[in-house]
Order: sequence, then C-alpha cells, then structure tokens
Amino acid sequence: MTENDSGFVGSIPEIYDTYLVPLIFEAYANDLAERTAALSPKAVLETAAGSGVLARALAPRLAPDARYFVTDLNQAMLDHATSRQGPDGRITWQQADALDLPFDKATFDAVLCQFGVMFFPDRVAGYAEARRVLKPGGSLIFNVWDKIETNEFADVVTQAAATVFPDDPPRFIARTPHGYHNFELIQDELILAGVSRSPWK
Ligand SMILES: C[S@@+](CC[C@H](N)C(=O)[O-])C[C@H]1O[C@@H](n2cnc3c(N)ncnc32)[C@H](O)[C@@H]1O
Repeated sequence: MTENDSGFVGSIPEIYDTYLVPLIFEAYANDLAERTAALSPKAVLETAAGSGVLARALAPRLAPDARYFVTDLNQAMLDHATSRQGPDGRITWQQADALDLPFDKATFDAVLCQFGVMFFPDRVAGYAEARRVLKPGGSLIFNVWDKIETNEFADVVTQAAATVFPDDPPRFIARTPHGYHNFELIQDELILAGVSRSPWK
C-alpha cells in the first residue's frame, strides 16, 4: 500500500458511491448487515465506513434503542454517507482512524469493517484497537477481497488500464484492495492482536 491509497477525497466519494458501490459493494454490505443483525447488538461501531453502504443496509435492521457509530478516516466519505442516509437518532457519524479510535475500551457489542482492513497501515494494530473497544465476547465482523485473479471485474479493469498505460500500469487495485487475501496471514494477524476465535470464515 502507498500513502495515497487511503486518500478517498475530492471527487472520489461521489464517483465511488455512484458507480462502484452498486456494482461491487452493495451485495456484501447486505451480507454483513444480516450477519450483524443476527447478533442483535445494541452498541455498534463501523470503521472505514466509506460512503455508507453498510450503514444504509444495517440501520433498518437494528433495534430502536441501538446506538450505531459510523466512522471513516476521510471526512469527505462520511459527508457523502450522511447525505444519503435519512435522519436517524441512533446514528453518530464521526471521523476516526481505525488505528486510534476515540472510544473507551469495552464499549461495543460489534465492530464492523467492510473492505477496509486492507487500507490499514498496520493491520495488527487495527485489529487490536477493535478488540480494545469491544466488550468481552463482542464480535469483530469484517470482509476482504480474494486475490484479483478471482475477481473478474477488478482483473479486467486492471488489465485494460495496463494496455492504455503500458509504461506505468496502474497497480492500485491489485496492490491494496486485492492485496490482503491470504487466510493464514489474516488468521495470524488476528491472533497477534489478541482476537480469539469465533468462526473465522
Ligand atoms: C474500499 S473503501 C470501503 C468503504 C466502505 N466500507 C464500503 O464498503 O463501501 C475503504 C475505506 O477505508 C477508509 N480508510 C482507509 N484507511 C483508514 C483508516 N486508517 N481508518 C479508517 N478508515 C480508513 C477509506 O477512507 C475508505 O472509505
């Protein structure tokens, strides 16, 4: 990952939410929302929430007395997310680095992160921070992409871009979103962070 890989700013939130979210993120947001709702959590934190696709899927499934903190490193992504979500007194939108969360320990029943951990400069630190703010027995629920060769859309886009820029082919998609798919590595990093086993798949 390079420093710029985490810069979801400028025109990116609008383009991201309009074109990429319906195409490749929405179905997974519905999946994470279902898994989360099944736990009936009362206090939920989402990190790297982006333009809010998971919040839009999950909020209707949470209890009326639930609290849902929706956070992202980039305020521009959250601004777009809030513009898409109807008023909801249970939700707090807050800029936050997932590696340095502004919350007390043992605050949340669930910490969620959809396609975000691959952007963390130190994933063990990110997992440990999620663990710190989780109540004992709470759940860390996240997803990552598999390798780019198994994702036709990302692979075709990357190959097409390489034909246009043969001297400097863009490698962002392969490097970062699709760069963290080794299950053993993910498992090892979770263990290093002190996250204990539930079903890890
Ligand atoms: C691929 S987007 C995923 C967004 C959203 N979860 C979704 O499913 O559409 C990755 C997000 O991670 C955020 N991000 C990157 N580094 C972060 C960090 N250290 N802490 C919190 N968010 C971060 C970016 O701002 C961006 O919104």
